[in-house]
Amino acid sequence: MIRINKYLRQYRLIAQTRAMRRNKKAKIKECDEDFKGRLVAITGATSGIGYATARKYASHGANLLLINRNEEKSINVCEEVRQDFGVECEYKIADFSRISDVRNLAYELLNLNLNIDVFIHNAGVFSTKKVITEDSLELVFQVIYLGSFILNYVLKDKFKAQESTRIIFVNSEGHRFAFFGLRLDDFEWEDHHYSGLRSYGQAKLAQLLSMIRFDEYFKDSGVSINAMHPGSVKSSMGQNNGRSYRFFKRVLIDRAAKSPEISAQALYYLGVSKEMEGVSGKFFRLTTEEVPSPPALDREVAEELWDVSIKLGGLE
Ligand SMILES: NC(=O)c1ccc[n+]([C@@H]2O[C@H](COP(=O)([O-])OP(=O)(O)OC[C@H]3O[C@@H](n4cnc5c(N)ncnc54)[C@H](OP(=O)(O)O)[C@@H]3O)[C@@H](O)[C@H]2O)c1
Repeated sequence: MIRINKYLRQYRLIAQTRAMRRNKKAKIKECDEDFKGRLVAITGATSGIGYATARKYASHGANLLLINRNEEKSINVCEEVRQDFGVECEYKIADFSRISDVRNLAYELLNLNLNIDVFIHNAGVFSTKKVITEDSLELVFQVIYLGSFILNYVLKDKFKAQESTRIIFVNSEGHRFAFFGLRLDDFEWEDHHYSGLRSYGQAKLAQLLSMIRFDEYFKDSGVSINAMHPGSVKSSMGQNNGRSYRFFKRVLIDRAAKSPEISAQALYYLGVSKEMEGVSGKFFRLTTEEVPSPPALDREVAEELWDVSIKLGGLE
């Protein structure tokens, strides 16, 4: 209750809505610089935003390390970008709905002699129904949030030892669906009503809260960590849901949605441009900086979440 009151006092709904409207119309910044021979890691690069981003970086000469759950799709994407752009493309397989998969992958990357210049956490899922994973966690939270946390946590010192790394979360304005903040006491949604929007909001909010701690950790190093909303774009998001949701999405959401290439353009700008050098701990709507919701700035909850995530991820 105290926390709810605290956030309500912090919300500036009219000013924030105006700013969001303005930002929505802002021109997406572009970066024409080359990224030849540099390495970009992208999670969930088999479709939608991740796929478009892989192609965008490859078109500027970057080599790719794709982290996907589906081997066949990974082979196809890698063959395609090698052929189209003549870059190197490797893939690793991990299903983010399995903690052991992500942890094993994180330690494998830690032990590889690779300099990762840009790390894009993009893998995500939206589920209208509550799905509990074999790790006894809710699926959306585990795939979107815990997966990215485990990777960042295990790799944080490797990143710090590099001359520079830019970490980017493909986050969402959807973090605002968690209007009253993060629930740390019910990751299985047993004590409160599950909805697709609320679980998505919780997962994206958790990612922004983890950014507070990682940003502190990377202070005075060559590592930056930022989050972005990629716009409302056409992708395979939500295809795992029932027929009525898919119909609703096709008719109402996809009609107004744009091409994922605009998200890729923004992710290239955030990952490569000189203007972004030294910028860290910020939330962007595409390439325009924006203030996230009050719960996403709650340092106290960020601390609690950090400790809980280390335990959930088996990282003690
Ligand atoms: N589209 C939008 O308008 C929008 C708006 C705001 C934020 N976002 C965010 O953008 C990101 C990309 O979404 P998208 O719209 O491009 O959707 P998408 O086309 O469905 O792409 C999602 C990617 O995540 C992968 N993925 C899903 N579950 C996974 C799991 N358990 N383990 C590993 N990988 C998994 C998918 O792999 P498979 O190909 O194997 O399914 C796919 O590569 C997400 O984080 C999403 O929340 C999207």
